[in-house]
Amino acid sequence: MLFTRLAPVLISLLPVATANEARDRAEEGLLTLQDWYNDGTGLWDTIGWWNGANCMTAIADLASIDPSVMETANYVFNNTLIKAPPQNPHPGPETKANAKRDFVPRAVSSANVSDWLDSAYDDDGWWALAWIAAYDVTEDNTYLSLAEDIFAALTKAWGTRCGGGGLPWNPTSDYVNAITNELFLSVAAHLANRVPSRKEDYVRWARKEWDWFAAQGFFGENNTINDGLLDNCQNNGQTVWSYNQGVILGGLVELNHASPNNTYLESANTIAKAAIATLADSNHVIHDFCETSSCEPDATQFKGIFMRNLLMLHSASPHDLYKSVIVNSAESIWKRDRNEQGQFGVNWAGPPTMGKLDASTHSSAFDALVAAASL
Ligand SMILES: *[C@@H]1O[C@H](CO)[C@@H](O)[C@H](O)[C@H]1NC(C)=O
Ligand SMILES: *[C@@H]1O[C@H](CO)[C@@H](O)[C@H](O)[C@H]1NC(C)=O
Ligand SMILES: *[C@@H]1O[C@H](CO)[C@@H](O)[C@H](O)[C@H]1NC(C)=O
Ligand SMILES: *[C@@H]1O[C@H](CO)[C@@H](O)[C@H](O)[C@H]1NC(C)=O
Repeated sequence: MLFTRLAPVLISLLPVATANEARDRAEEGLLTLQDWYNDGTGLWDTIGWWNGANCMTAIADLASIDPSVMETANYVFNNTLIKAPPQNPHPGPETKANAKRDFVPRAVSSANVSDWLDSAYDDDGWWALAWIAAYDVTEDNTYLSLAEDIFAALTKAWGTRCGGGGLPWNPTSDYVNAITNELFLSVAAHLANRVPSRKEDYVRWARKEWDWFAAQGFFGENNTINDGLLDNCQNNGQTVWSYNQGVILGGLVELNHASPNNTYLESANTIAKAAIATLADSNHVIHDFCETSSCEPDATQFKGIFMRNLLMLHSASPHDLYKSVIVNSAESIWKRDRNEQGQFGVNWAGPPTMGKLDASTHSSAFDALVAAASL
């Protein structure tokens, strides 16, 4: 355990939240998060474009178990769809997004997909997952169609470099990183379970991505996933980030649901256990390595993404260890990482004054509270 010194108190000795308390805490976390929501931009002040997609996903996930927040969630989906596009840092070229796709023709979406592409393929993947989460709780096809359009644009980026496949990080980079490819897998697998008429296409893409991913050098020692590949396509030894151990879990759970194969959940369980062994402290609270220096600007978001996906695995393949990590991380956030304004900091073992606190640190912790409320 790497972070033992950061969390000297045995949280397991404390009483943990009841189901109702866990939900109340998540609701309070949402109220605080919305202090940062800017009605004019449709995004959350203090954080970037891709972080917004993760805020929206967490809100949708809470709405899926807590009807009392549905009104807030609907407002965010509606408002963000309309207001956020001008905030896109680098809107995607329409020609690329609308290029002829190798899918069956479908009804045209009222949203403009170019608005949601920003030439960073991982960002596009986050928004696709966010709109799928919005679809899951609203059944509004506008959101699902938008996610399909984003995915169709991403398929154009399928590369030829390492192992003759995978997506690079962005159109002008040769960097083949884990997150972009995990997101591609997860979006494809989610769509396979939601679009019956194109299920086979989406299963085919998800399988293709997973078979490719598993055959590359992303996995380092101890079954953890490093950040990406070197120019020669070998593991680059870069940081084992929590989100890279997370997105793959949700992707494999969805793929297993769409096209069952025991190896998918076996792989997911191996990755999840390895991640917990590497990233959890002795109280089963998750950390990222950056916390001892600085996680800004992006890594402040990562842990919540891991928790969201660990919950998905726990739902499909329950394990006491996963439950303990979810419960104890949420408990620690609430008891040790919350300031007087109810905002959560970057280090879930606390205190909230460690590092800069913003809508990213808060929404990441909020994701963990939503996971705990969903158990
Ligand atoms: C906005 O949300 C409401 C539900 O609150 C829904 O009926 C309506 O269709 C949504 N509008 C758009 C433009 O998506
Ligand atoms: C979609 O968005 C792109 C980029 O902002 C813009 O160039 C294009 O005109 C839009 N298309 C439609 C049909 O509104
Ligand atoms: C793998 O685990 C061993 C034993 O815990 C540890 O010493 C080593 O640093 C780990 N390797 C990586 C890349 O995390
Ligand atoms: C299950 O998945 C594994 C790994 O992708 C693959 O090698 C195997 O052929 C699959 N089994 C079936 C029955 O499709």
